[in-house]
Amino acid sequence: MALTDFDFVLFGGGGDLAMRKLIPALYALSRGKGFPEGGRIIAVGRHDWSREHYLEELDKQAKPNIEEDRLDEGAWKAFRERVNYVSLNASDAGTYQPLKEALRDDDKLTRVYYLAVPPNLFAGICQNIAEAGLATPNARVVLEKPLGRDLEGARQINADVGKVFSESQIFRIDHYLGKEAVQNLLALRFGNILFEPLWRREWISDVQITIAEELGVGNRMGYYESSGALRDMLQNHLLQLLCIVAMEPPVDGTPDAVRDEKLKVLRALKRFTPNSLVQNVVRGQYKSGHVDGVAVPGYRKEPDANPQSRTETFVAVKAEIDTWRWSGVPFYLRTGKRMADQLAEIVVRFKSIPHSIFNQPISSFQPNSLVIRLQPDEGLNLNLMAKTPGDGMRLKLVDLELDFRETFKKPRMEAYERLLMDVLRGQLTLFMRSDELEAAWEWVEPILHFWDQEDNDPLFYTAGSWGPGAASALIGRDGLQWREEA
Ligand code: BG6
Repeated sequence: MALTDFDFVLFGGGGDLAMRKLIPALYALSRGKGFPEGGRIIAVGRHDWSREHYLEELDKQAKPNIEEDRLDEGAWKAFRERVNYVSLNASDAGTYQPLKEALRDDDKLTRVYYLAVPPNLFAGICQNIAEAGLATPNARVVLEKPLGRDLEGARQINADVGKVFSESQIFRIDHYLGKEAVQNLLALRFGNILFEPLWRREWISDVQITIAEELGVGNRMGYYESSGALRDMLQNHLLQLLCIVAMEPPVDGTPDAVRDEKLKVLRALKRFTPNSLVQNVVRGQYKSGHVDGVAVPGYRKEPDANPQSRTETFVAVKAEIDTWRWSGVPFYLRTGKRMADQLAEIVVRFKSIPHSIFNQPISSFQPNSLVIRLQPDEGLNLNLMAKTPGDGMRLKLVDLELDFRETFKKPRMEAYERLLMDVLRGQLTLFMRSDELEAAWEWVEPILHFWDQEDNDPLFYTAGSWGPGAASALIGRDGLQWREEA
């Protein structure tokens, strides 16, 4: 679908997210067909920079983040022409005049306010936008995570932003929903008849969702220390993936049809009690170790770290969904920094066959599984038992692999590209609704409270491992193993 002209206002225009993801994504989109001549980007920041200086910063900080095969000097030059820079203090309404002047005075124009800034600034910015008369009917606001630190904070953000923008103008972004493989999971589930009859407690034994990173916290200690893995990854990315796996078929792909179904999943998640928490949640922090053969320091020794920090860099949870479809099927979720590998995947394991007719013990039949790979490469694997060639009947697990890059030799879209495109089109399906956000916080909050009261340390794990032994025990108690440890 072609886009119409727009003014895209990027608060936090000089920040890390803008330079790493947003500007490269906007550049990539600007090269596509249907990107309008009148598509402008107005970066906003507190640095007192001229437009020329900002463009130089883009050359230095954003351009290197564009993949080599997508970088075209001519296209980059043309992209720069679209960019303007406005310096203002986002919290001070008195400084918004230059922004007003930089925007085109046309109520019909699509206007996007992307808030790539800490959430404590959201309320003030929205209010200042309104006061400056810039909250036009065609305006949209995009909120970057973290969307609150807890349920109360999330409610406050929803209320504050809601005073200026209606729900249909608010785009709460979770970049995991923009990943190709997540979209493909929707295609797999609702574009094929094969899986739906099996997609339930009678046939599925368990689901594992892992997002493992080799990276540490890097230069984000300020943010990470007050966040931790639960707030940074589990409350949003992992729960969103769980929703896509577990939701009932929506009536259609419209935003509310999809978001209603996701909300039902979040509301059906079994609540933790202090007792069930001890059994079903593992909190870890990395100590020094080796990642890819390179020695790395422990979390407490990272630059600017608190040497007594109890912030978790790893979390594993056994979740359950109390519905007819899923009752009794464990969903194991885990994420961590400085882990043994960089990967994100969803593993749906089916039940075992009931009886072996072959001269082979039933224990040698591995259950079928479907693996949806999100990272580092995107694809699907379906594991089946097959006969090995030759005389005799010997069965072995084989792998049917679908590699999206190989199969569709089309250029991919990065998650942020797709989501920014959706914002510009006004398509809300892949963004969280206010009630979804609150339901996700409601479920994780007992874990946060419990950890706050505890005065013991997280469990330490060696950097470059798969997390604390307790995470293996968590799944081991059910007679299972994490896929990478099997
Ligand atoms: C972000 C988190 O939302 O997701 C980061 O704040 C994390 O801590 C990142 O590294 C992971 O995203 P991706 O797409 O690289 O898996």
